Amino acid sequence: MLTSVKVQETFNQDGEDLTKMLRGLPKLRGLKGFLEPYVTSMQITCNYTSSHSTTNSQNLPRLPVPKLKDTIEKYLLTVRPHLNDEEFAKTTTLVKDFLNGTGQKLQALLEKRSKEHLNWLEEWWLNTAYLEYRDPVVVFSSPGLAFPLEKFESQKNQLQYAAKTLLAALEYKSLIDNNQIPVEMMGKNPLDMQQYKKIFGTCRIPWEKRDKLSYNNDSKHVTIIHNNHIFHVDLWGDDNILLNEDQIVEQLSKVIKLSNTVNNEGIGILTSENRDRWAKAYQLLANDKINKTSLEDVQRSIVVLCLDAPVGLWKLKDPDARRTLAGAQLIHGNGSSSNGGNRWFDKTVQFVVGADGVTGLTYEHSPAEGQPIAVLMDFIVQYLAKNKNPGPRSSRPREPTHLKFNVSSDVGAMINTAKKNLDSLVNNLELNCFQYNKYGKNFIKEQKLSPDSYLQMAMQLAFYRLHKVPGAHYESAATRMYIGGRTETIRSCSIESVEFARTMLNANNSPKEKSAALKSAINSHKNYTVQALQGLGVDRHLLGLKLTAIENGIEIPKIYSDKAFTKSAHMRISTSQVASKCDGFMCYGPLVSDGYATCYNPRANDINFATSAFVDNPDTDCVKYRNALEQSLQDMHDVLLQSITSKL
Ligand code: COA
Repeated sequence: MLTSVKVQETFNQDGEDLTKMLRGLPKLRGLKGFLEPYVTSMQITCNYTSSHSTTNSQNLPRLPVPKLKDTIEKYLLTVRPHLNDEEFAKTTTLVKDFLNGTGQKLQALLEKRSKEHLNWLEEWWLNTAYLEYRDPVVVFSSPGLAFPLEKFESQKNQLQYAAKTLLAALEYKSLIDNNQIPVEMMGKNPLDMQQYKKIFGTCRIPWEKRDKLSYNNDSKHVTIIHNNHIFHVDLWGDDNILLNEDQIVEQLSKVIKLSNTVNNEGIGILTSENRDRWAKAYQLLANDKINKTSLEDVQRSIVVLCLDAPVGLWKLKDPDARRTLAGAQLIHGNGSSSNGGNRWFDKTVQFVVGADGVTGLTYEHSPAEGQPIAVLMDFIVQYLAKNKNPGPRSSRPREPTHLKFNVSSDVGAMINTAKKNLDSLVNNLELNCFQYNKYGKNFIKEQKLSPDSYLQMAMQLAFYRLHKVPGAHYESAATRMYIGGRTETIRSCSIESVEFARTMLNANNSPKEKSAALKSAINSHKNYTVQALQGLGVDRHLLGLKLTAIENGIEIPKIYSDKAFTKSAHMRISTSQVASKCDGFMCYGPLVSDGYATCYNPRANDINFATSAFVDNPDTDCVKYRNALEQSLQDMHDVLLQSITSKL
């Protein structure tokens, strides 16, 4: 006789799934009735996690809808650097018409929406910025997060590190589940902590037109990928005891033994495809029962752990070349002949532990911003440094399961296409990751300047130095002081930033003039930042008005096809501060074909930068951009000190 049965159904986002869940309950209850004579206990669990805020347990304020007039005024200031006088006059007329016409109607509808939703933007943003976006998540959306590099002496070392990483992640997850992560604050304002709850057990599922998210917070297993083979590994034994480090190492060793040759038909590479192509392959795969079970097994795991092949990390003498190599492995696995097939890019947290010391994670961006992930990295790095007691052994660990996939000839052809497509993506991404160690945020603070605004202005100067035109510039600001808040764009290119760049590059100007221009540009940036953090930027409001028009069958206003809009939103510099205590860094690809990405981690006495550009664009060059950035940081430092000396 069976003693206990646990029936668990996991449903993902949105109304239709909730309806499905409610419809499913009687079925499960019926099953319970049928089994009752045979079992002593049966538990029915339904996990339901919404992709958008349905409760407000932290009692946070709601994201405001900015006043239309304020947004329009701000918008005109941000587009000014990109237009000549005639173009600017035309734009001014256009936005005034909008303000007095359709804009009013759209604003009223948007305000109505904001009363009906806890966060008027959250669901729209998730769909338009992520789930409906059809380019591959690789390079275009998923960042890599490089942990401090390791030097493994043996395979055992690699597996011990991997086991500790999993145990640290579980400890972190338990803190999240038990609401023990301290609520983050911005000044006196508590920040929304929901994103933390969405990072473990989550997986994106490819779907035609709009992907789905599957949340599985109660999972007990992880997915291990080695040589492109995919395994299910239970972290708890049959006695319900968590495996200790040695036991996890044993499980990983078994996985390695079971997959000693590269699987050329590994389906993981399909997750690097364009989303519609992957969705087609997914449907073909899921028609087969065995495949469906394997796919769902990966989706439900807590995290993916990729045990990667060596990449020659320590053969590189230059520490920045090692960083760049690590960044590449974490963004795209360096293509089909390296570790690009040893991945499941749809998983929110995908740890990478490479045989010769590349360590970190690739994260699928849709459920969360970089910050909770960077906090996870610091937690893991601190955990690794401690010498923890091994803990009790489970007396009944389960054997790892090699997940089976039946690959039809159609899917086989899709795998081959995916390999070619990933390889072209890899070949087209130029990365340059480096540590700037002449100074860090301490020096900037000593000058009584905001480190973030200062670094943003260094990027403005670097771009202008190279291209001699203003560079539209995106920086993410967290709007987590609001329920369900994600980000707002800081438009870092301003009238003052361009004036600053021109002043700096003119040898006739004195250090005092240059320093004054720098401070004015920093003030302007800081001012925009403060507004963006309060949800009062330009971009999300304009997006909301446009989506309101689409949803209500109203013709999209002309301001969206105006040169001012297209130029100021063509973000040639795409940036994000992702701060961590440890010597790690985040990296990702540019937003536009002729742009640069710059992710940075400002630490007390150094700054980690990860920059990228597309190889096939003749206008951009990552090495030149890095040199221009370093030169700008040096020049800014010097003019600040010289201007003080000249005052004395
Ligand atoms: N004089 C001296 N010190 C100053 C200063 C000044 N004029 N201005 C700021 N500082 C100090 C601050 O007090 C702060 O001190 P701390 O290190 O003790 O905390 C430090 O300098 C850093 O402040 P600053 O550089 O101005 O801004 P920030 O670190 O708060 O960052 C944002 C600004 C916009 C990046 C941040 O608010 C944010 O939104 N981060 C999240 C971005 C994000 O979502 N990224 C992930 C996307 S995937």
